[in-house]
Amino acid sequence: MLVLQENISLIPYNTFGIDVKARFFAEIFTPEDLVELRNSAVFKENKLLILGGGSNVLFTEDYEGLVLKVSIPGIVTEISDSQVVVTAGAGVIWNDLVNYCVENGFAGMENLTLIPGTVGASPIQNIGAYGVELKDVFESCEAFELATGEFKKFDYSACHFAYRDSVFKNELKGQYIITRVNFKLFTRIRINSQYGAIQSLLAERRITHPTITDISKIVAEIRVSKLPDPSTIGNAGSFFKNPIIERAEFEKLKHAFPAVISYPAGEGKVKLAAGWLIEQCGFKGITEGHTGTWKNQALVLVNHGGASGKEVYSFSEKIIDTVSSKFGVKLEREVNIL
Ligand code: FAD
Ligand code: EPU
Repeated sequence: MLVLQENISLIPYNTFGIDVKARFFAEIFTPEDLVELRNSAVFKENKLLILGGGSNVLFTEDYEGLVLKVSIPGIVTEISDSQVVVTAGAGVIWNDLVNYCVENGFAGMENLTLIPGTVGASPIQNIGAYGVELKDVFESCEAFELATGEFKKFDYSACHFAYRDSVFKNELKGQYIITRVNFKLFTRIRINSQYGAIQSLLAERRITHPTITDISKIVAEIRVSKLPDPSTIGNAGSFFKNPIIERAEFEKLKHAFPAVISYPAGEGKVKLAAGWLIEQCGFKGITEGHTGTWKNQALVLVNHGGASGKEVYSFSEKIIDTVSSKFGVKLEREVNIL
């Protein structure tokens, strides 16, 4: 049964720890709850915000509508030959799913260890870390169409995955609630250890034949050393995307700044490390009012306590302007601004 609350604080529901309120708040635990919700007056009369773990949002004001927390639980596994399909409810905590897969010897997700948030949000921006993206393990997802009240299945090709991007951030933005995701994993070990930091730690520990448990542990270690823990300092991970620019533009940049950090990003394109660009502008580890950037990773904006979303947003504008003046590169926000 749907329980509706009014005027509730969203502090526990956003990892930035921004103090705003939702006019209405509901939590759903089954896909069928969505049918009931869609028939309710509060749904028909209000704008809707879908929320998982709130780890990729910045609230800049109270939400004058209905905030819907998706908490559909459950993990189901189907093993066939060397492949396994794992189905997880949208409300499953992403890292719980990763741990479940690693413990059961299902390979493919271990590089995505410790990413905060829920399974339902994972396809939205095609989460990625340490050489793997969600798209590499995605089979399909089930979603509820708000306009019609029907459930629909999206296969890989329908999702248009790209770096921190999918159809759900573009053409279909705000139109579907993801209820379940089906992942294809492997029972035979397929390790992805190409990321520099993983290779260094494997070499340091003389691990020549890593298991998925080794990779998961190493990724967790790297992440803890670089990223702030939202339970102690508010943040939403990388605030900006790593910019992708044309190779010709990159060559000019490289000429002016030979140390610029870059990666190949497909035909004629180059991806830049936004953290490096921001650090070069003198922003790493600084505090400005109640906000700032993390001491070990300039790409992460933090709430030092009591920051408003507007304050964090203005600080992000200052970063965008400064990086643009110095490097001629326009940073795009990765976090969803509300
Ligand atoms: P929310 O923040 O609740 O929502 C994010 C967006 O998805 C919103 O637009 C929301 O409306 C939509 N949404 C959520 N659930 C659903 C649903 N069921 N159906 C439809 N739409 C939905 N991200 C990475 O990719 N890689 C990283 O390495 C990484 N590291 C991070 C480290 C830290 C410390 C933090 C705080 C964040 C990090 N992130 C990273 C960002 C974040 O973890 C991911 O974006 C994650 O997928 C967000 O999940 P969530 O459930 O918290 O989503
Ligand atoms: N760097 C700096 N200064 C900084 C930060 C980074 O010089 O302050 C340099 C590093 O030395 C490194 C390069 O930039 O050479 C890349 O840094 P890192 O490996 O930390 O990764 P990133 O590109 O900054 C991306 C993702 C992260 C993900 C990591 C690991 C984006 C926007 N961010 O960060 O995702 O965990 O790679 O794969 O793509 C997130 O999305 O919230 C997130 C944390």
